[in-house]
Amino acid sequence: MNPLTDGFGRRFPYLRLSLTEACNFRCTYCLPDGYQAGPVRGFLQVEEIRRLVSAFATLGMHKIRLTGGEPSLRKDLEEIIATVAAVPGIRNIAITTNGTVLPRRLPGWHRAGLTALNVSLDSLNRERFKRITGHDRHAEILEGIEIAQQLGMPAIKLNAVLLRDANDDELPQWMEFIRDRPVSVRFIELMRTGDNQAYFERHHLRAEVLLDQLQAAGWSLCPRAPDAGPAQEYAHPDHRGRIGIIAPYSKDFCRGCNRLRVTATGDLRLCLFGDFGIALRPLLQHDTDRDALLARITTQLGLKAAGHGLHQGQTGLTPHLASIGG
Ligand code: 5AD
Ligand code: SF4
Repeated sequence: MNPLTDGFGRRFPYLRLSLTEACNFRCTYCLPDGYQAGPVRGFLQVEEIRRLVSAFATLGMHKIRLTGGEPSLRKDLEEIIATVAAVPGIRNIAITTNGTVLPRRLPGWHRAGLTALNVSLDSLNRERFKRITGHDRHAEILEGIEIAQQLGMPAIKLNAVLLRDANDDELPQWMEFIRDRPVSVRFIELMRTGDNQAYFERHHLRAEVLLDQLQAAGWSLCPRAPDAGPAQEYAHPDHRGRIGIIAPYSKDFCRGCNRLRVTATGDLRLCLFGDFGIALRPLLQHDTDRDALLARITTQLGLKAAGHGLHQGQTGLTPHLASIGG
């Protein structure tokens, strides 16, 4: 049996590793007052990351996504990418970023071994983008997306959190945007977290509302690849890009779960909205702790629950997604 299998037969080829809790944006649904540093406790260092990723790769994991907070705030990001890329067994290294430093940094990340890029882009309208994120950085982000295409990055995805009365009327513009660009735009249904209850009530919209519009415009559902994420992707013969829907409140969403998370301080989280973390950091200090580390990961995986408790309003430990890496 694959060692990374849980009690429900789900496999986990995919790790989301947060590199920092800090973020330079103030997205209205995530960190509306900006990042407030907690009690100072450093984030995982390169050597700790190397040991962690090697352990997961030994257990059969082959894809790592670097997240945050905002991972590009790490000064040593390029070194981290190169270190992860050098771990035997790791085939894909992706990053999720708000995109502000892409024009300056992406070529270096690419050289270091980055294979896939997700950029958060909640609106195609500059003013709206500024209102949602608190920053007027639309131009650099769009430039960064062009550079990613020029570099020939094989997988470019844009994430837009769907927000009632803020960006829920932009599907036609997005369709136009991806007519000639081979990128996927994915609409993520707003998730409730510990800190955003009132905001959630005001702006939550079921992602299914986009389906009628997609079907009416001739888009059709693509078959799901075996290690794909939770997006349902739609394609259209006249458009090079794709449109994905991520609907965490849909029936059976958790059944396809194939990812584990490790926080920036080295806690293994079995679910985005779980109510416990498992400290791995004490076992990341010496190469000699490797067997204990492998044992802790596989034992804990047996405890992964069937699904999140969001329908019951349970948001677990997660005050906002910057704390765990989305
Ligand atoms: N609901 C849905 N998506 C969210 N993100 C952050 N907070 C939430 C939330 N409450 C998204 C970001 C980014 C990704 C990492 O997670 O916009 O695209
Ligand atoms: Fe930062 Fe991402 Fe949270 Fe926005 S959603 S504040 S970019 S961590």
